Amino acid sequence: MNGRNVVLGVTGSIAAYKAVALASALVKAGALVDVVMTGAAQRFVTPLSFQAITHRPVVTDLWAGGEDLEIGHVTLGRRADVVVIAPATADTIARLAHGLAGDALGTTVLATDAPIIVAPAMEPRMWSNAATVANVAILRQRGILVLEPDVGRLASGYKGRGRMPEPDAIFDVVSGVLARGVSLRGRIVVVTAGGTREPIDPVRFIGNHSSGKMGIALAEAARDRGASVILVHGALSVQVPAGVDARPVGTTREMADAIHAAVEGADALIMAAAPADFRVARAADQKIKRGAGSMSLELVANPDILASLASWPGVKIGFAAETTDLIANARSKVAAKRVHMIVANDVTAEGSGFGADTNEVAFIFADGRVEPRPLETKRAVADAILDVVASALQQPVEPSTP
Ligand SMILES: Cc1cc2nc3c(=O)[nH]c(=O)nc-3n(C[C@H](O)[C@H](O)[C@H](O)COP(=O)(O)O)c2cc1C
Repeated sequence: MNGRNVVLGVTGSIAAYKAVALASALVKAGALVDVVMTGAAQRFVTPLSFQAITHRPVVTDLWAGGEDLEIGHVTLGRRADVVVIAPATADTIARLAHGLAGDALGTTVLATDAPIIVAPAMEPRMWSNAATVANVAILRQRGILVLEPDVGRLASGYKGRGRMPEPDAIFDVVSGVLARGVSLRGRIVVVTAGGTREPIDPVRFIGNHSSGKMGIALAEAARDRGASVILVHGALSVQVPAGVDARPVGTTREMADAIHAAVEGADALIMAAAPADFRVARAADQKIKRGAGSMSLELVANPDILASLASWPGVKIGFAAETTDLIANARSKVAAKRVHMIVANDVTAEGSGFGADTNEVAFIFADGRVEPRPLETKRAVADAILDVVASALQQPVEPSTP
């Protein structure tokens, strides 16, 4: 971040104190941080706290820059490499959605071409209010990256979605956007992760070894490129990243329903989850007792989610976890499922597959091209996949026909 200009907008939420930690992290990383505070923000934290950390004047008043041309009402916006508003109140989000420019933050946002990251913080009811939902949708349509607030306990004592993502998570987003640009700005990317669980009885299930790490790396990487990310996930052994719209599911059929709902209006779908192919035909209502002899379970096939999306027009990327004939199996999947690319993954290879932090994959494209990749981190694989998604979204390619 050395020498990059970051404008940090702080608004009137109880979470404003957390913006001090964010400013500090940005300054430590070498960014030149200009803080713009709304009037309400100054009731929660003093400008002096930010000034002491950033060693720069804090903008608190649209009119105060009058004598100082260095801080004109559009200067900060014009020179910003990124604008981050954390915390962002419902009030500020509403003003941004309507292009209001009655304060220094409003003029800064209107005058900037830089990526804008918004980290909302508010009571769950304010977040789910139809007015806020509509305002957030407007901002996202305009390519503003509105991070999904965290779920948890709010200062009021109420629980729900509305907590500002933690400062270190916002820092990661800012640093990702500065490093890689916003090739997915204004796009909605649906990512699936983790394994599904098919109940046998109320206490047992059939599951698999998926850790969800690959899908989580994809969700983070897409978020860092400015996409709004919907993460449909089953069981995970890692944390859901901050700022994404996480939609947990249990079974494969629940995952299918959640994906069909999520892809409405989305641009891309990356299926890195491991949904169970089979479910128990008749799961027991009560816990099955040990009994004396053996028992058998009848399994029936679950729906093939990727195949069920054949007519969905967005960019589709699938994964093929194979243990034999990797390329041949993945090639037939590309054709059968009408996807832009299959990421073929030999889950038995050293350093690859379930639970590992690294992966060795090959990209199999719809036109038959095969691009083997080296053993690399799952994040590096994710970034390479998102390069493919970003370029496919720029020049839509026809998916292969079966
Ligand atoms: C104690 C207190 C805490 C508040 N916390 C929030 C909050 O977390 N999120 C929010 O949207 N509004 C919150 N508000 C309301 C805003 O401060 C108010 O809507 C204000 O007009 C926001 O102005 P601004 O967006 O210009 O900063 C809070 C108000 C009070 C009195």
